[in-house]
Amino acid sequence: MRILGTGSALPALTVDNDRLTQFLDTSDDWIRTRTGIRSRQIMTDETLLQLAVRASEAALENAGLSASDIDFVLGSTVLADTITPSLSCALQGELGTTGAALDINGACAGFVYALDVADAYLASGKARRMLVVSAESMSRIADWTDRATCVLFGDGAGAVVVDAGEGLLSSHLTSEGNLAPLNMYPNPGNSPFATASHPATPLFMDGPEIYKFAVQHSVDDLKLVIERAGLAPDDIDHYLLHQANRRIVEAARVRFRQPEEKFPTNIEVRGNTSSASIPILLDELNRAGRLRAGELIAMSAFGAGLTTAACVLRWTGV
Ligand code: ACO
Repeated sequence: MRILGTGSALPALTVDNDRLTQFLDTSDDWIRTRTGIRSRQIMTDETLLQLAVRASEAALENAGLSASDIDFVLGSTVLADTITPSLSCALQGELGTTGAALDINGACAGFVYALDVADAYLASGKARRMLVVSAESMSRIADWTDRATCVLFGDGAGAVVVDAGEGLLSSHLTSEGNLAPLNMYPNPGNSPFATASHPATPLFMDGPEIYKFAVQHSVDDLKLVIERAGLAPDDIDHYLLHQANRRIVEAARVRFRQPEEKFPTNIEVRGNTSSASIPILLDELNRAGRLRAGELIAMSAFGAGLTTAACVLRWTGV
């Protein structure tokens, strides 16, 4: 699998930390020091589908392709505009692609999970050219009365067009089957037959627990995929880590003894956009001309589940 083009889209409204202090007992200093975040983009009248369409069209244009070249739309989202059908189906309708459309939910690791799923389809010949889109509306999931979580998140979408060319060198997916550290239960419905159901709950996150998990797993997963690719940490040109907390990225960088420019971040101005964070960052690097053909990119993400996913790929250039 290789990446042919990238795109991203963000909501129009930028919310800085000071704006949050108008309704939360928090401060710019606390948020910046603990997370690195200064501001984030939050959806107002936009739909998630609109962001996904914009990101997808940008990725297609970047790849020099059109919707008719795509035979599989693979979405990654925790919460689409509709519970059913999937975001991918809605996206397919807007873009006019034909073929399959499927969403996966790998939580914040969803994009790297999706790349691996795409690789399997492409390698088997069941798909020829795929659009992989991560679109997340964490502002619709966050509990805006909980200062410990809502300050972390932003909304956005990132997309890539991929085909079966040589690019992906190694990958590794994990899941712990553990709901406790990060969860949210939906409205249980009103079935007259239900005798036991979990009540709806706001987003819960055990921040310190996930922090420890994230640092350890990011490092372990990256070591593994780098080794599997027959490489050493110094060989990697760009480490793209899930943008959940600048301190997590920094902790991983220090363990690998790599210079800061190899671990780019945008969490400062994007917040944590869940599975969209890596493709948005990738697109920003691509459009800034910071990726050169032949360079090696390592990706690593973690999320609810707790899921983790990492991979190494060669940037083939667009
Ligand atoms: N403003 C001011 N004070 C706050 C805020 C806030 N926004 N939030 C929490 N506090 C307070 C707490 O109440 C606590 O006060 P206390 O000591 O009086 O009880 C104090 O700050 C410290 O709280 P901690 O939770 O221990 O703070 P910590 O240093 O661990 O930072 C954070 C919290 C930023 C959430 C960190 O643990 C973290 O980043 N964890 C990883 C979370 C993560 O990556 N989540 C995403 C994974 S999945 C996904 O991406 C969707």
